[in-house]
Amino acid sequence: MRIDVVTIFPELIENYTSASILKKAQEKNLVKIKVHNLRWFTLDRHQTVDDYPFGGGPGMVLKPEPIYRAVNFIRSYTRSVPRIILPSPQGKVFHQKKAQELAKERHLLFICGRYQGIDERVLDLLQCEEISIGDYVLSGGELPTLVIIEAVVRLIPGVLGDGESIEYDSFTDGLLGPPQFTRPRVFQNLSVPQVLLSGNHQLIAKWRYEKALEKTKKVRPELLNLVKKEKE
Ligand code: ADE
Repeated sequence: MRIDVVTIFPELIENYTSASILKKAQEKNLVKIKVHNLRWFTLDRHQTVDDYPFGGGPGMVLKPEPIYRAVNFIRSYTRSVPRIILPSPQGKVFHQKKAQELAKERHLLFICGRYQGIDERVLDLLQCEEISIGDYVLSGGELPTLVIIEAVVRLIPGVLGDGESIEYDSFTDGLLGPPQFTRPRVFQNLSVPQVLLSGNHQLIAKWRYEKALEKTKKVRPELLNLVKKEKE
């Protein structure tokens, strides 16, 4: 997979993607991540990327031309038609199913917004898909972009090692994850549940499923309705 990111803070993306899982995925050539500074695509001396909003109001809006130029450059340079994603609180909320869908793409392009937003015309022209990472407002699209990239890249086959299977991830079966334990067997007088020491994989799987169900019912009951609907 190829991932391009357009941002006015390239170092934020570069720092995070050059460590841990994302670093390994790039070293294994399973993903190529390229970061582009939006200011490279301005034509004026001051490298202006934003301007005042028509109609008035506080804050600034990202101008359409540099974004349009950046996307066209990436399209022609890569000779590919990327799926363009704009992290924004106005988008549909991101979830594991969307991550699984995006993990099948060959090329993703993220545009990181700042300030009060981005000129709407460029979003329409480029057919951007707006994705929100939750109902709260951040100052820019860099963190949401990193959240989405990490959720997607770890699903690409071969990215995680054998010991880091995604099979037991929360949400893979529509439920929250079960509780986990490691050594020591007794900690502060609290013992690890006996079943996990039994070696009986069927029993362990059943216990984990029940615990996941119990936790989901308690904390996120609305997820259970979604699971039910999908099965219908
Ligand atoms: N940009 C600012 N806030 C955001 C959010 N909640 N999700 C995605 N992008 C954003």
